[in-house]
Amino acid sequence: MKILFLGDIVGRTTVAYLQKNLWVLRERLGADLVLANGENATDILGLSRADAEALLSSGVDLLTGGNHTLHNFDLYPLLDDSPYLLRPANLPAAAPGKGESVIEVCGVRVLVMNLIGMQNMTHAGNLFESADRILARNAGAYDIAVCDLHAEATAEKIALGYYLDGRVQLVVGTHTHVQTADEKILPGGTAYITDLGMCGPENGVLGADREVILRKLSTSMPVRFKVADGLPVLHGVLVTLDGARATAIERI
Ligand SMILES: [Fe+2]
Ligand SMILES: [Fe+2]
Repeated sequence: MKILFLGDIVGRTTVAYLQKNLWVLRERLGADLVLANGENATDILGLSRADAEALLSSGVDLLTGGNHTLHNFDLYPLLDDSPYLLRPANLPAAAPGKGESVIEVCGVRVLVMNLIGMQNMTHAGNLFESADRILARNAGAYDIAVCDLHAEATAEKIALGYYLDGRVQLVVGTHTHVQTADEKILPGGTAYITDLGMCGPENGVLGADREVILRKLSTSMPVRFKVADGLPVLHGVLVTLDGARATAIERI
């Protein structure tokens, strides 16, 4: 089984690009399951219902989320109802939606869980305990498991990789929008990468317009975020599983 996991999708140009090209890419890579982090698809700061539905009908099987997922109120009913849309599990109880889902692909029950980091992120509960609770709650109900940890701190992501090694098949990090070069198979057979990178315009700053970010960082004045112009790059990983063991992880 092959899993394609794409990094944070940034902006409507990228959504439109994926609508046009993802089915072809999916077929070319032989991906049986396509996962993506969708927290920045709508104007960088969130995910609208329309963009979520567009991505989920363009070849993405399930969208994970992050610190921007709850910005669009119109997404909340879909977060509650759709098994194909997650927000981090360790958010406060008031958050709509859920942080785990079991979906079936080619007869395989895949548990996808979404967590958020505790360092430099707001109001997150203990991510390690959340992961344990999710695995315990779903015991017997899944064949393989995948985890997206949306976090700023690289140490938290690496630590979670080892914490879940041998218990899940794939741990990826998201949020920084910069792909790391540390993809590997951990000793227990879990495929791992610290950050997938992003699917978004290459010529900005993390997908945002560079003039806007330069003004913000050089003057500390408030600015209105804007997606950068230009063609998107697509970053992620393609993971090969042999039963319950990951045998290869390749950066895309
Ligand atoms: Fe992001
Ligand atoms: Fe984020």
